[in-house]
Order: sequence, then C-alpha cells, then structure tokens
Amino acid sequence: MHRLKVVVGGVFCLASASVVATSMVGAPPAAPGRGWWQARGKMAVPTRTHAARAVAATGLAPGQVPPEARKLSEFLEGQRLFEVETFGGNGRTCLTCHSRETGTVSPADARRRFLADSNDPLFVHDGSDDDNGDGFGDGAHVTRMLGNATVLMRIRLHDDVSVEGHPEIEEVTVPRGIPTTLNTPGLDPVLMLDGRQPTLQEQARGAIAQHAQATRLVTTRELDLIARFQQNHAFFSSPVLAALAFTGGHAPELPPGKTASERRGRIFFEDLPPDFSVEPPNFKPGACAACHSGPMLNQTNQFLPVAVPPGTRFQSVLVSEFNVAGNPVTTFVFKNQLHDLDPATNQDGLPDGIIRVKSPDPGRALVSGRADDFFPFPPGSFDHLNAFKISPLWGVTNTAPYFHDNSAKTLEDVAEHYRQFFFVVTDPDGPGPLGPLIVLTDQDKQDIVSYLRLLK
Ligand code: HEC
Ligand code: HEC
Repeated sequence: MHRLKVVVGGVFCLASASVVATSMVGAPPAAPGRGWWQARGKMAVPTRTHAARAVAATGLAPGQVPPEARKLSEFLEGQRLFEVETFGGNGRTCLTCHSRETGTVSPADARRRFLADSNDPLFVHDGSDDDNGDGFGDGAHVTRMLGNATVLMRIRLHDDVSVEGHPEIEEVTVPRGIPTTLNTPGLDPVLMLDGRQPTLQEQARGAIAQHAQATRLVTTRELDLIARFQQNHAFFSSPVLAALAFTGGHAPELPPGKTASERRGRIFFEDLPPDFSVEPPNFKPGACAACHSGPMLNQTNQFLPVAVPPGTRFQSVLVSEFNVAGNPVTTFVFKNQLHDLDPATNQDGLPDGIIRVKSPDPGRALVSGRADDFFPFPPGSFDHLNAFKISPLWGVTNTAPYFHDNSAKTLEDVAEHYRQFFFVVTDPDGPGPLGPLIVLTDQDKQDIVSYLRLLK
C-alpha cells in the first residue's frame, strides 16, 4: 500500500485506500529518489473502466457515488483529457507541449523527440517552420522547433492595432516559447505571456482549437476537468507552493543562501530600496525584486522607479527590443494613442494619435491596443508595448529556455541580458557623460545565477 501511495502522490488524500488500490493495480512503482511529480509518468494511463471499478470497489448501491470516488474519477478523466485526448485534431494533446517533468519543451527535448520519432505531433502545424498546418515533420521544416522550441502563435489584433500597409490583416503570427504549466494554473490568475486569456477553461478551449486543431466540440465539463487537473499536486515545483494553492498557506521564503555567492545574489531579490548611505549610491540591492516580488516573485514592488503601482504584472525588459532571437520584425500602426495627441509628447510631430512601432512581438500591446505607455514621462509605465507577463521565478532552474521568445537558453544568458537591460534603462543621459546607475559585473552575474538556482 505504501508504494501505491507514493505512485499517486498526495492527490487522493481524500480517497479511501481501497479506491486507490483498485484503480492503481498494475501500475509500476515510482522510481525512488526522483521528484514526486515525476511519479505521474509511471502511472498506467487511466480509463473510465478504472474509475468505474474504483467506484464499484466501495461496495455502495448502484447510483450511490461517494464524493471521494467522484473526485477520483474526475481526476482520472482530467488526466486523460490533458494527456491522451486529441479532440479529433492533429494528434496533439496538452502533454505534447507541456511535459510532466518541466511543464514545457526545451530545444534539447525537441531534438531528442525528433530523433526518436520525426512524426511526433510536436512538429506539425504551429510547431513546424510555417504555420499553415501542413504537418511537415521531415527535418527540413522543423529548424525553429529544434533550435528554439518556439510555437507560432496567432494573435488577434486589438481594433486600434494594424499592420502597416495591410489594414485587412486581423491576426498576426509570433514565435513564442512554451511557458511552464508548473505553478501557474494553481497560483496565477494572469494567463498567457500577454495575459489575454481570462480563465484556465478559456485558455484550454483556445489551445484545443488552435494547437490541436480539434474537429469535435469540447464541452464545458471537459474544460472544467482540464482546468482542475492542472491544479493537482503534480503541477507545482515544490510542496510549499502546492500547500499555498490548496490551503492558502504561507508563501515560500527566499532561501538564505549558503555560499558567499548565493548570499550576495540574494540581495538582488530582497524588497529593498537603493542604498543611499554609500557614495556613489548603490542601486543593485533589490534590483530584481523591483519586478520579481510577491509570493510568486512575479509582480512589481514599491521600489520600481516606473509609473505603475506595486503588484503590476506586466513590464518590458527589452527582450523584443533587443531581438536576440532574430525574429522577423513587423511595422505596427497604433491609433487612438492618447499621448500622441499632445503636441508636446507626440512621436513624429503630428499630433494625430498614431504611433508606428517596429517589433518582432509587441506582446501585451497587440491585445490592449496601447503603445503610448512610455508616457507620462518621466518615468512612463512600460506595461504594454513589448511588455510581457513578469515571469514567476520558483522552479526556474528546471524550465529553460527563458523569456517569451526563448532567446535566453540558460540562466547565464538571462544574467547577461539583464546586464544589457540595466545598462540601457539606468543610464540617466543615454550616450552622455554620466554612466549607468547599475552595471552588473561578471561576479554579480554569477551571484545572480547561483541564487536563481536555489529558487525551487
Ligand atoms: C503546440 C504546443 C502547445 C500545446 C499542444 C498546448 N500548449 Fe499550452 N501553451 C503553449 C504556448 C506556446 C503558450 C504561450 C502562448 C502565448 O502566451 O501566446 C501556452 C500557454 C499555456 C498556459 C498559460 C501559461 C502561462 O504562463 O500563462 C496554460 C495554462 C496552458 N498553455 C495549458 C495548456 C493546455 C491545458 C493544453 C491542452 C488543452 C495546452 N496548453 C496545449 C503551447 C502549447
Ligand atoms: C522591469 C521589471 C523587471 C526587472 C527589474 C527584472 N525582471 Fe526578470 N522578468 C521581467 C519580465 C517582464 C519578464 C518576461 C520578459 C519576456 O518574456 O519578454 C522577466 C523574465 C525573467 C526570467 C525568465 C523566466 C522564464 O521562465 O522565462 C528570469 C530568469 C528573470 N526575469 C530574472 C530576473 C533577474 C535575475 C533580474 C535582476 C537581475 C530581473 N529578472 C529583473 C521583469 C523584470
């Protein structure tokens, strides 16, 4: 019995022992010493029959289903919908892109899967190099997935946004990495890199239609079961985070750090203002926490020197601007832009409410219709144009690559990105004689990386 409990983790804490035992007969044991969420990988794929047998094993009269058994059968059905059901589409399931181990797919995962089976549905449709859904998986059309593990997302443009020269275009395609499904479903109400989906149900409906190209209707009940399945224990990077979601327990503490490097790294993540007691003042304390604060390390705090309230969830950290990924750039036209109407602040001398923007992916601006967020100036709010959801950082060491376009392949790349970011945004006079307020040294970058590795 002990082994069976390990196999199912804490998911069925309410289910009676006999129910669990009946449903799991024949399941291989979990590999000892591995992450408990990986135990899920060892489970036999459950079926309705398993669930029915589980109910029968309770010895209740027909029609009398105890609540624990209903919970179990709903869990198993949710798991089947997430991992097995294709909805009559292109063969994909949620698991095709959101793995059990990391909740995402890395380029290394993609290459491994391609070698094992070039017909893996990961490589069809928006996983192939072109988004026409032609299903190439022949190696000549999968370079983007093998190199960057990005998916071609189709985004419906806000009414105030168009592509220059093509007023008829209503949807654009942008390559985006697959955010992990660990922690987010249970602990983050803001869904998608640009926050465009209101609920897990609507998010799943979109994924089933767009990634899986479903040919059958999905029911509300199925969407509920998928949503709930993504909130079970296996979808958290640590038991503390699972407890936070289930019982409203306390948020994980920032680990103290053992080595000198980790302890120095921690200072970037503490909710601290700059240190004005030294000359020149030190702007590094709290530099990362300014945006990576709160229980999930994914919201701004009161020290971010930008016109947004604490708790803001979107910012630009110049990932689209630098475009290290080398993605194709489009010129977008934004109309009804308030700040462009003011002759003092308009972009091009024409106070016509129109702002033109070149970007590989303007992020939240595509769905909010706002590109004028660098005003009021100073300091601007920077929460629309090229802005993305501030990533949570718990478990980040296991979910490479990073940023919305997967342009940072490692945490070292992330640290180098932030060296360049702070170099640009903290320079008070641009190319003038004054230097940037924050210049990350090689030692700082190492310290930051060693600390990020501790955030489990
Ligand atoms: C082809 C790969 C693919 C498949 C299949 C897929 N997803 Fe995703 N998923 C993505 C990508 C890419 C994003 C981010 C897209 C964006 O923000 O524009 C995403 C985002 C999400 C998010 C939001 C994560 C966050 O950080 O906000 C959730 C939750 C999610 N997917 C669940 C699912 C579920 C449930 C299914 C099955 C019904 C599914 N996905 C199928 C690629 C995929
Ligand atoms: C101005 C706000 C802001 C500051 C300051 C900031 N971040 Fe971020 N961080 C973000 C946003 C927004 C994203 C998502 C960006 C994107 O995908 O384009 C992000 C993404 C990340 C990611 C990628 C996570 C993933 O899963 O892809 C890591 C790691 C990270 N930040 C670490 C740091 C570190 C370390 C610092 C300090 C050196 C820092 N951040 C400072 C806003 C910020």
